[in-house]
Amino acid sequence: MFQLCIIVLFYAVCAKALDTINASQTIKDGQTIVSAQQTFELGFFSPKNSTNRYVGIWYKTISYGTVMWVANRNTPLTNTLGELSLTLQGILVIRNASGDVIWSSIRSSLVSLKKKLVAQLLDTGNFIVREETDHGNSIWQSFDYPTDTFVPGMKFGKDLVTGLERNFTSWKTEDDPSLGKYTVWLDIQGYPQMMVLDGPNIRFRAGPWNGVRYSGEPNLRPNSIYKYGFVLDQREMYYHFDLINTSVVTRVVIKHTGSFERLLWIESRQEWIVYLTPQTDNCDRYGLCGSFASCNINNSPACGCLKGFEPKSPDQWSMADWFQGCRRSTPLDCGPREGFRKYSNIKLPDTRWSWFDQSMNLNECERVCKRNCSCTAYTSQNITGGGSGCLLWFGDLMDIKTILENGQDLFIRMPLSELGKSSGVKQVKIIVPVVSVLLFLILSVYIFYRFKRKKLRQRGTLIEDHGNDDGNATSKDDVELPLIDLSILRKATNNFSDDNKLGEGGFGPVYKGVMENGQEVAVKRLSRTSTQGLDEFKNEVITTSKLQHRNLVRLLGCCIKGAESMLVYEYMSNKGLDSFLFDDDRSKVLDWPTRVHIIKGIARGLLYLHQDSRLRIIHRDLKVSNILLDHDMNAKISDFGMARSFGGNQIEANTNRVVGTYGYMAPEYAGDGIFSIKSDVFSFGVLVLEIVSGKRNRGFFHKDHSNNLIGHAWGLHKEGKSLELVAPSLNESINLSEVLRAIHVGLLCVQQRPEDRPTVASAIQMFLSEGELPPPNPPGFFYEKVTTDTGYSNSSTYGTNSTNELTITMLAAR
Ligand SMILES: *[C@@H]1O[C@H](CO)[C@@H](O)[C@H](O)[C@H]1NC(C)=O
Ligand SMILES: *[C@@H]1O[C@H](CO)[C@@H](O)[C@H](O)[C@H]1NC(C)=O
Ligand SMILES: *[C@@H]1O[C@H](CO)[C@@H](O)[C@H](O)[C@H]1NC(C)=O
Repeated sequence: MFQLCIIVLFYAVCAKALDTINASQTIKDGQTIVSAQQTFELGFFSPKNSTNRYVGIWYKTISYGTVMWVANRNTPLTNTLGELSLTLQGILVIRNASGDVIWSSIRSSLVSLKKKLVAQLLDTGNFIVREETDHGNSIWQSFDYPTDTFVPGMKFGKDLVTGLERNFTSWKTEDDPSLGKYTVWLDIQGYPQMMVLDGPNIRFRAGPWNGVRYSGEPNLRPNSIYKYGFVLDQREMYYHFDLINTSVVTRVVIKHTGSFERLLWIESRQEWIVYLTPQTDNCDRYGLCGSFASCNINNSPACGCLKGFEPKSPDQWSMADWFQGCRRSTPLDCGPREGFRKYSNIKLPDTRWSWFDQSMNLNECERVCKRNCSCTAYTSQNITGGGSGCLLWFGDLMDIKTILENGQDLFIRMPLSELGKSSGVKQVKIIVPVVSVLLFLILSVYIFYRFKRKKLRQRGTLIEDHGNDDGNATSKDDVELPLIDLSILRKATNNFSDDNKLGEGGFGPVYKGVMENGQEVAVKRLSRTSTQGLDEFKNEVITTSKLQHRNLVRLLGCCIKGAESMLVYEYMSNKGLDSFLFDDDRSKVLDWPTRVHIIKGIARGLLYLHQDSRLRIIHRDLKVSNILLDHDMNAKISDFGMARSFGGNQIEANTNRVVGTYGYMAPEYAGDGIFSIKSDVFSFGVLVLEIVSGKRNRGFFHKDHSNNLIGHAWGLHKEGKSLELVAPSLNESINLSEVLRAIHVGLLCVQQRPEDRPTVASAIQMFLSEGELPPPNPPGFFYEKVTTDTGYSNSSTYGTNSTNELTITMLAAR
């Protein structure tokens, strides 16, 4: 009779997959409850390589068995005789075989014993205890006692009324869910900031919330998958994130290794991918450079004192021991004439010794800071809408990092003598407009004069062949960018006739032109609908004109007249690489040595953009049609700079557009709008694979599988059959080891995780060296998500953004 009861009960649990237990029921080891939509399951489990039993919650339908919550993480059961039950008082308890309570939930509010209580597993993954009739409120919830996983709907932070604090702590090891070394914590000592602690030490600071993101997570962008935010009021301080598209499955985990990862479930691949890790480089190590110094991973050494500061201990500093940091070159005297200097593009310093006020504006903030001698810096607390609120720092400024994209301004207190040396904030306001107008006038006259002089010279001098074989950049410092008269361009292009049209890009049509001296040029006519302002345009032109490298298409001049703005480039007789690579006949011209020459050329051009030019340029839209070939088959990257200007400002300022081309975009860029030099490396990897195979990544078709080219290359590589990837037309000219090396390097460049990908510099090195290469990890985006519209046009275009369909623009929802 007794046995029968158990069987009946067990049957009921299994068959109906209940999501609720009431106060008289128990869940024994082996039994589970399942949330209504079958999303999560709760019961007893053992981590792999362990026989200990724990009560936990795991994913049920997707990623079966991935544990997101553990109840008794520090008090495991040693056998399968444990049971979980809900007491009449609404407390969850786990008992072992002898009936001892080894874990219990803490009840936060009083309950009336007259009410019937139930415990229910929700589809959010939240396990709640509530009154049977009250579906709105819970008296206890597992979301308040997180383990190592943050899922949408949770709050991360502190309840100031109850004192409840929600930390995330890593497992000890992969097999042991007990409290590990790493804790994600919201520190509320000053202005709240999220930190990852390693025991008692700070490992990483995500930085304070600035209204848009955490100051130290520049890659966190408004996106179409989830929204995130920060709530700060009298009662609560917490971060939250919520799904926009609820069919997406995502979680954030602090791993036992200390790695803090945002993960996304990819159904078609049946795996979790990491789409964002807030700690991106060494500069994210807390306090690496000490106080009053900024860490810039692109510099060598990475640490540098802020302007107006010098190393505290120059000897140690020179030996890369930066922990002592920097001190003022001229001490403060707290005089009435001290002011502030603006430092831009930074991750805000540690806010533990800070103060904030959400109602002040920046001017009031400056006044408050100025009045108090121990106030060292201030900035806007919220950067949206031009900035609002006030955030002040007292004492040393710690853990500053240089962030070129999405960095912030910080105003640091300076003695008068320092301010005299350059721009103080007050002075900037008055002087800048005057100076810039003057500068512009002088520059215009100068440029005009230079251009006149140039025109008088012989044909051919306009294009200087400054390249020697190793592709070094010219070191000319002065910018000579001729302003070309509209009438000259009209004449050169036959009044912009359709016959002269080379292509149509996202920014407008491109025409071929022949100048009076016989020089052939390409004229890019920017469409009038472009929202870019004149100043931005000029700025862009000057930026671009400073970039000179033999593997970049050269900008020869520009024209600004009324509503017209045009850019004049050198003409590339052989047009785009795509016109060769994907054409059955013309591809024969590209024998293996030529392809190697092209790959090297692209790599050198990219290296220059990333590393050697004075401005760091991320191309963002590297693809075959943006690689142009001159008459000697030298590869030249085009469309650099424009993408940065148009895309860059817009991403920042208004629409959050992700601009790029599907098939070349790195997963973290396509998915989350993060771009870095590593997303260019991804596109470079795609290019290499395309050049070796003669096939397009996007629109690749194979009868046996639906992978794209990357996936195909990966599959062949794993099976040791990489040679099958090589274009048949290469048969004769092929150099076996070079080809295999190229494919291997290509695969290293398209790895899923940006941090796994090499830089362009090391990719070149790998390609040229003989040494052994690291095995590649699985690539990103190797399956084809959308199989219908490939959006590819076969026409080759000239240095334009290629066809409009090809370049996708993702509008990220807020
Ligand atoms: C959260 O972490 C902080 C820092 O380690 C610690 O002081 C605090 O006690 C923790 N709170 C909880 C509830 O674990
Ligand atoms: C949500 O995501 C799914 C799968 O990724 C997709 O099929 C669906 O169209 C998306 N829905 C919305 C409203 O974006
Ligand atoms: C300056 O600010 C510090 C820190 O908030 C405070 O302790 C001190 O009293 C202030 N001094 C003055 C003169 O207001």
